[in-house]
Amino acid sequence: MKKRLSINLNKKNAKELTKIISDSLIVGVFEGPFTEELKNIDEASNGQLKKLRKLGELKGQLGQGNYLPALTGIRAKRTYLVGCGKKGGKLSRQDGVMVLAKIVSAAISSKASTTFISIPKLNVSGEGDDWIIQQLSYLCENNSYTYDAKLNKKNQKKVSLKRVSLTIDSPLPDTKLNRSIKVGQAIGRGSNVAKDLGNLPGNVCTPSYLAKESRKAANKYSSLKCTVLGEKQMKQLGMDCLLSVGAGSAQESKLITLNYQGGKKGEEPHMVVGKGITFDTGGISLKPGATMDEMKFDMCGAASVIGTMQVMAELKVPINVVGVVASAENMPGSKATKPGDVVKTMSGLTVEILNTDAEGRLVLADALTYAKRFKPKSVVDIATLTGACVVALGHSTSGLMSNDERLAQKLLKAGKSSNDRAWQLPIWDIYQKDLDSNFADIANIGGRAGTITAACFLSRFTKDFSWAHLDVAGTAWLGGKAKGASGRPVPLLSHFLLDQS
Ligand code: BES
Ligand code: MN
Ligand code: ZN
Repeated sequence: MKKRLSINLNKKNAKELTKIISDSLIVGVFEGPFTEELKNIDEASNGQLKKLRKLGELKGQLGQGNYLPALTGIRAKRTYLVGCGKKGGKLSRQDGVMVLAKIVSAAISSKASTTFISIPKLNVSGEGDDWIIQQLSYLCENNSYTYDAKLNKKNQKKVSLKRVSLTIDSPLPDTKLNRSIKVGQAIGRGSNVAKDLGNLPGNVCTPSYLAKESRKAANKYSSLKCTVLGEKQMKQLGMDCLLSVGAGSAQESKLITLNYQGGKKGEEPHMVVGKGITFDTGGISLKPGATMDEMKFDMCGAASVIGTMQVMAELKVPINVVGVVASAENMPGSKATKPGDVVKTMSGLTVEILNTDAEGRLVLADALTYAKRFKPKSVVDIATLTGACVVALGHSTSGLMSNDERLAQKLLKAGKSSNDRAWQLPIWDIYQKDLDSNFADIANIGGRAGTITAACFLSRFTKDFSWAHLDVAGTAWLGGKAKGASGRPVPLLSHFLLDQS
């Protein structure tokens, strides 16, 4: 069991920083005259900082850092000064996050187990000190994540950071700042839950494994209930479309529901629905071999649902939220669905499966139809749905499509404030005809605008409620040298749901 990181407010003032006993002390430095804190550190260290300034080594430029181990006159073992640019200068959210990430990486990289951070007075446009504290706390959790579940003991990395003390000169009441710490930490931990599930290999993280982990989460929180439907029960509900995806696999498909009650009993819930393909070979429309290993990440939408539900429970958010995970393994095999096969969805519409690699939309079609019975206030589905989305938006931005402009705007806003951004694409009627089929009510692929037509397919099953779709194919994990799950879009979803309370 990993030990929990503790983050606490500490009411030390500028004068006392030199006396703090801690493995590391992190202080912001601005361009121009030293702040009170730096004057004190400078005096205690016999003018070391002034010397560095003269040498041009301590400019305070945005994002530049100075590492000063064993600074005389300072009781902390190591001191880091992190450049914050012009004092009072307006920062974009992205620059604000960049500086805060520098602070956090100083804390983590120092091998320190205790760190003291004096939060600099940053002026981030549109956001207050509570946002800064929340982001910093989120980053402390998120950036100290390591994945080594499947490594030999001797190869497991140890992250040593255990205790973070924060001081901030802010007019906001402590109750508010403490809540921000809690929110940031919970979102960070929820992201790490999603990363762990995403990073586990396909031979471990199967639909049954996702069901087991969901049950575990429900056992941890009394506000969270879990139900799991197996193939027999799904068959009874008429979910042939979902079932067609797992037909070639030895792993049983699962439909997992996590029900969080934070609001009144019977109050209509918001819903999050995740694509949980625990491995996507493409099926009979087999994918090429290069980077196919990355298709173990094809359940990251589901992982973000499981992570977000835990954020809700941890923070006791006063609304009702239902999470649904549609999980299957997409394999070729003698029982696998073939191109040209026609299946019936739970909604009654039939689908001609022209490409078995367009499987995410097939499991989501039935999961979204299932969502209707909860009489949702809103439904957001999250899916690593199309390679085309990565081409359109790259790895920094998720694709957003919706049948409700107000819902879309709320999600875009949540993406901005959490620095987990999305960009809206149109799902106008002109794209719908791309899904026409000669042999069924609709085809599962069609047209050149792959991300949009995938969403158009989903829109056929969401007519009765306010719905949005997040395509996280480019954002839920990173490839290349930094290969690994990112925990996105847990921050966006958490901010959105917190805003609804
Ligand atoms: N899981 C993939 C989407 C994907 C591809 C995510 C690459 C991240 C990187 C999805 O199931 C898929 O295979 N989509 C096809 C759809 C096509 C057959 C219409 C795609 O994008 O190529
Ligand atoms: Mn696929
Ligand atoms: Zn897929």
